[in-house]
Amino acid sequence: SKIHGFLEKLPKCEHHVHLEGCLTPELMFTLAARNGIKLPDPETRPEFSSAESLYTRYENFTSLDDFLSYYFIGMSVLKQQDDYEALAWEYFQKANADGVHHAEVFFDPQEHINRGVLYDTVVSGFTAGCRRAEKEYGMTTKLILCFVKHLPASDASKVFDLAVERGDFDSGVVHGIGASSSEVGPPKDMFKEIYATAHSKGIQRTAHAGEEGDPSYISAALDAYKSQRIDHGIRLIDSPSLMERIVKDEILLTVCPVSNVKLRCFDHISQVPIRRFLDAGVKFSINSDDPAYFGGFILHNYCAVQEAFGLSIADWRLIALNSIEGSWIEQERKLELL
Ligand code: HPA
Ligand code: ZN
Repeated sequence: SKIHGFLEKLPKCEHHVHLEGCLTPELMFTLAARNGIKLPDPETRPEFSSAESLYTRYENFTSLDDFLSYYFIGMSVLKQQDDYEALAWEYFQKANADGVHHAEVFFDPQEHINRGVLYDTVVSGFTAGCRRAEKEYGMTTKLILCFVKHLPASDASKVFDLAVERGDFDSGVVHGIGASSSEVGPPKDMFKEIYATAHSKGIQRTAHAGEEGDPSYISAALDAYKSQRIDHGIRLIDSPSLMERIVKDEILLTVCPVSNVKLRCFDHISQVPIRRFLDAGVKFSINSDDPAYFGGFILHNYCAVQEAFGLSIADWRLIALNSIEGSWIEQERKLELL
């Protein structure tokens, strides 16, 4: 339809995509073979028989943690710098085709380091993918280092200290920090020392909160982390007072509608609070999260929202404007994107 053509052309900024979540089953099998990595045995885990059987399994995630168990197995095939570059480059090609002009992408170094991959290998590979996207597409890109909540906070501190010592934040090789993986269970403020240090150094901060967890996870990210953005944040609908605070403080939510349905946060896209956020003045961007696992990249999310909500051109212009405004880029670049 006409609006789909409009959505395709609309200049997009992506703020919530995990590079490891862009690993397709096809690339997973290729890299496993090349790197001699053993994936689960199809005898006992038949979903690992083929790319097709994995895609079928991905249609039936029961929760965030069910998804994460596949996500962590998937990324275990990444070993060499070239693997990381190839993965990032696959994402940027799809993002470019979907009309993404600026992308801020997450990565989970702790998981790779725990398997014996050097932090430098991970960052160098992902950075090479970013530079290629900048050069070939004129895209702007930023890497955001995510801490994972299911591993000890002391591991996260080690990675953070390493990134600081290398000067990665000063050089812009890494632009900001995030927090992801399991939500309900680990302490809500488990990275508060890291975030306090990041705040004092002027490092940008975001955090996953209010995806499966109640609004107190969002308040904790704002209070304990001084988080400038909230990734997901959909459970804000359970706290009108917190929603007012988010509006007043102009905190951007990075909403991932298809992810929310695939991980059973909502039964249908129409339940994602897109209309409510627009009406309340909550600023948000629309993002893909883990596109290789959830069956679609950013444009798929834009189109799914349109099908469910029938938004106006003015609504979409506002969403695009807020996505640009909420991006971690220089004012000059924002003006170019408008
Ligand atoms: N939530 C939490 N952690 C994640 C996600 C998510 O949606 N995707 C990848 N890591
Ligand atoms: Zn996410």
